Amino acid sequence: MKIKLVLCSLLAFTAAVTFQSCGSSAASSDGQKTSNVIELPVPAREPGQTDVLNLVTDPIDTVHVAFVGLGMRGSDAVRRYTHIPGVKIVALCDVYEDRVKASNKMLQDNGFPAAQEYFGDTAAWRKMVAQPDVDLVYITTGWDWHTPIAVQAMKDGKHVAIEVPAAMTVDECWELVNTAEKTRKHCMMLENCVYDNFEMATLNMAQKGLFGEVVHVEGAYLHDLRSMNFAEEGEPGHYADMWRLKQNTKRTGDIYPTHGLGPISQILGIHRGDKMNTLVSMNTDEFGMTEYAKKKFGDTSVYAKTPYKMGDHTTTLIRTENGKTMMVQHDVTSPRPYSRIHQVSGTKGFAQKYPVASIALETDSTAGQGADYQNLSGHSAVSREMFDRLMEDYRHPVIRQVGALAQEVGGHGGMDFVMDYRLIYCLRNGLPLDMDVYDAAEMSCLTGLSELSIENGSAPVAIPDFTRGAWNRLKGQSHAFTPEDAQALGLDIVAAEE
Ligand SMILES: NC(=O)c1ccc[n+]([C@@H]2O[C@H](COP(=O)([O-])OP(=O)(O)OC[C@H]3O[C@@H](n4cnc5c(N)ncnc54)[C@H](O)[C@@H]3O)[C@@H](O)[C@H]2O)c1
Repeated sequence: MKIKLVLCSLLAFTAAVTFQSCGSSAASSDGQKTSNVIELPVPAREPGQTDVLNLVTDPIDTVHVAFVGLGMRGSDAVRRYTHIPGVKIVALCDVYEDRVKASNKMLQDNGFPAAQEYFGDTAAWRKMVAQPDVDLVYITTGWDWHTPIAVQAMKDGKHVAIEVPAAMTVDECWELVNTAEKTRKHCMMLENCVYDNFEMATLNMAQKGLFGEVVHVEGAYLHDLRSMNFAEEGEPGHYADMWRLKQNTKRTGDIYPTHGLGPISQILGIHRGDKMNTLVSMNTDEFGMTEYAKKKFGDTSVYAKTPYKMGDHTTTLIRTENGKTMMVQHDVTSPRPYSRIHQVSGTKGFAQKYPVASIALETDSTAGQGADYQNLSGHSAVSREMFDRLMEDYRHPVIRQVGALAQEVGGHGGMDFVMDYRLIYCLRNGLPLDMDVYDAAEMSCLTGLSELSIENGSAPVAIPDFTRGAWNRLKGQSHAFTPEDAQALGLDIVAAEE
């Protein structure tokens, strides 16, 4: 009990200095009322500014794309885009001239016209986003540049696609939301893991009621990045200017939450009938980076002596408006098998992707909806044979639409291409995008909010409703198709209109 009181008095002090208000209150067991939720201010909309839920813009026959940030991720994005119908790559930008030239050469070697080149410094993108014939600016720089470039590009009349996380602070999240609402431009975060085959199949299963009421979900980014974070200029797999190590030096919390959070947010229908209300976050101390730095560079090296702020392992728990819970983990410094967990637990079933993809269903699950599924039991995973059958029967329409081509083009097993294809497909057909600026803000805000919770003794932090009241208007995650494609896919749901 004492701990709670200490926490609350600490918070009262911090809140008075930093925050607009302390939100909901709770009664402690000795009867005292304590206020312990940290709540950040929600900026008001300007007159005339309205939400961009289900935003529809004029169809663009050929989407003119400009890329900024041509490192490991961006150069592969340019390659993938050469495989998408209805795209013209018109501009390329990076700080480094050779990266721009290399992508431009790839275009020309494959029979595409040369793109306009921008390079030389960290501001070269300003001229590129102002280039009049650009429809979409695709941002694959390090994190600190995501929001500034996206905001200016929207102001210059462009749609934007931003690598993950779209924003690094809650203020940046609001900047993206406000700019998208004022300019009426699409702002999509490039969260590719929602397009993975298993994640999409479990979304389809959840929406068809296979898991009953989904009550708890888990996601993660557990990926040993030590060798890349500590790779210096010229070493294979190095980040430009070691930007990612710098982030791990100056930040704590879950600074890369979106791969785990994206798919489970779609399953719960976040800002489409449910919303994330409160989080608490806790992390370990930092051990792994220093140990690795000592091993690679020596005990007395600058890297070994640097005080890294990022704890090795961060766990964030979220409670939603509809009474569901989400757990999100982050660890990029421990030697462990890659995992995004992707767990879905409901009243009638369960699915988890890592370490071994498995599904368990109660006998009265709606599995198959007429198909003959036998020997179901919530106590154990279905057989491999039945697993394969479920994956086939519940293959998501988006994967049925583009999965085969995605396998050929590649990019994290195809999911990157599915994401790119869907973005261009929706822009070309004037359909609402699969993910909007509110997704970008909700998923990215965990960076700042988990840090805030940790810095205040794992205090509960309110998660802003970036829709400012419209979170319940849409009902569930949807993927828009043209009427012809919907018919070809055997769907009776056509693009939802406002
Ligand atoms: N979705 C995924 O699966 C996935 C995978 C890897 C990386 N990413 C994301 O992609 C982004 C880039 O990561 P990366 O691995 O390619 O890093 P990288 O260091 O290889 O590439 C970043 C590039 O951006 C350039 N750059 C930085 N600031 C710039 C500026 N102001 N103007 C122009 N160019 C600038 C750098 O010179 C560099 O070439 C990050 O946001 C990362 O989180 C996403």
